[in-house]
Amino acid sequence: MRLISFLMKTSFLGKQVNVYSRFSPSPLSMKQFLDFGSENACERTSFVFLRQELPVRLANIMKEINLLPDNLLKTPSVQLVQSWYLQSLKEILDFKDQSAENEKVIHDFTDAVIKIRNRHNDVIPTMAQGVVEYKECYGTDQVSSQNVQYFLNRFYMSRISIRMLLNQHTLLFGGKVKVNPAHPKQIGSIDPSCNVVKVIKDAYENASRLCDLYYMNSPELKIEEFNAKEREKPTTVVYVPSHLYHMVFELFKNAMRATMEFSGDALTHPAIKVSVALGNEDLTVKISDRGGGVPLRKIDRLFTYTYSTAPRPCMETSRATPLAGFGYGLPISRLYARYFQGDLQLYSMEGYGTDAIMYIKALSTESIERLPVYNKSAWRHYKTSHEADDWCVPSKEPKDMTTFRSF
Ligand SMILES: Nc1ncnc2c1ncn2[C@@H]1O[C@H](COP(=O)(O)OP(=O)(O)OP(=O)(O)O)[C@@H](O)[C@H]1O
Ligand SMILES: [Mg+2]
Repeated sequence: MRLISFLMKTSFLGKQVNVYSRFSPSPLSMKQFLDFGSENACERTSFVFLRQELPVRLANIMKEINLLPDNLLKTPSVQLVQSWYLQSLKEILDFKDQSAENEKVIHDFTDAVIKIRNRHNDVIPTMAQGVVEYKECYGTDQVSSQNVQYFLNRFYMSRISIRMLLNQHTLLFGGKVKVNPAHPKQIGSIDPSCNVVKVIKDAYENASRLCDLYYMNSPELKIEEFNAKEREKPTTVVYVPSHLYHMVFELFKNAMRATMEFSGDALTHPAIKVSVALGNEDLTVKISDRGGGVPLRKIDRLFTYTYSTAPRPCMETSRATPLAGFGYGLPISRLYARYFQGDLQLYSMEGYGTDAIMYIKALSTESIERLPVYNKSAWRHYKTSHEADDWCVPSKEPKDMTTFRSF
């Protein structure tokens, strides 16, 4: 059962994990991604960069997987994820000493990248399944559940970043033509002038179709746009439209579910209001609903993986996509926002509704990848036992006045 961990310690590949995890990943800015994909983009340059950077990013996170609690590491799902990472690392290292001048090598590398991308398609649900198995079998105490949350944030962020690199390479060099006919303006997955309102309307349409399916109705959308940079022009930003879509789609599903549940059998439902503002530093999107809100005490919990107030959806593929229930919507969306130095926050007024606010950097030079690195501080996070809280925990009422301490 512990085959993978054993391999990591003893094999040649395991030693390579140690070697590459000593390098820090190199974060790229949106501008660098664009330069990589510009007119004179060269598959060779991308090859030379990726054959070093991919092993570094893979090895950094593989070291952290190994620090997970033993019983979680032992689950078949986590073993499977580990085997994918090892296999992909091996396939990239096969190109380590090959000549970058050889066309065939470059071509084979692009094929390998496509294969690796496909292999990792199901990493998120598989790792999530491992966590569920672990919790069901062993339960969790506060310390290990904090460690698992810490790990999942870093693991999923690392995966977003690795996928970004793989996607850019395959979209730019994987096909016969460099330009994507469906999105001719895009450089790989990046749109240099991503129309924010268009993406928001798209996500709203799809979320409301889903909401109609479950509730036979859905709230309307009211949208306002403030482009402080060029007043009459649509708000655009250099960004990955699929990331933006993912975040707003998740926020719309949440806002719709809350609105429909809160307004019960009413025939009309309060609209969801969206404001988009572009300033010098930030592009901000606020999605406001009147779905009854969440008490302040619970707000942090909403960003915990697997926390959901909806029934767990059935995993059968024949069933329609669920509107809620996995408890991954908010935490993963926040990672997408943070990936390029933005953020996602929730402000709620219990009894009334919720504002979800998403921040994206307005300048492509400031949109720089935010990447986890495996080092002493990360290691300490998993190994140090968390000490007692240094703030008093309020009890319901003082039990006995004589227990007051005198100083
Ligand atoms: N706008 C909102 N108003 C009220 N409650 C909300 C809102 N957004 C999120 N929540 C609460 O936060 C929980 C977690 O949200 P999250 O999107 O992470 O998971 P989910 O919607 O339950 O499932 P899924 O992973 O399918 O999105 C929800 O179950 C809901 O209870
Ligand atoms: Mg959700």
